[in-house]
Amino acid sequence: MLGDDADLVEASAWLHDIGYSPDLATTGFHPLDGARYLRRVQAANESLVSLVAYHSCAVVEAEERGLLALLKDEFAAPPDDLLDALTYSDMTTGPDGTHLPVERRLAEILERYAPEDLVHRSITRSSPLLTTSVRSVERRLAEIG
Ligand SMILES: [Fe+2]
Repeated sequence: MLGDDADLVEASAWLHDIGYSPDLATTGFHPLDGARYLRRVQAANESLVSLVAYHSCAVVEAEERGLLALLKDEFAAPPDDLLDALTYSDMTTGPDGTHLPVERRLAEILERYAPEDLVHRSITRSSPLLTTSVRSVERRLAEIG
């Protein structure tokens, strides 16, 4: 389905949460920290860096954290179809690698964060967008059989 971009999206799926590593964390916002690390330390491909920076509705959490302008200033947004593919991978895979329907994945994330937590609020706000991305990929997958 992704053609020549399949390797790029797979690499982004492996690396998208690298910013959670305590050794890399500077802002505490893992998409930004991970993308900065991949660019500055690893000199990674800018398409990969962009996918990590914007993965899984990062713009919503960036806004909650007051970091949206910084995110957009430092990183160009990736193409929607590639971002949807990464979102699909993230939002249909549980912490143990199990494939999950997007509804269960979102519920699983919300259960891990208290309602007053910024992540809980961000995921609640971004759930419709995340679900739309997953449905878009599911439709494309169904079309190609
Ligand atoms: Fe993430």
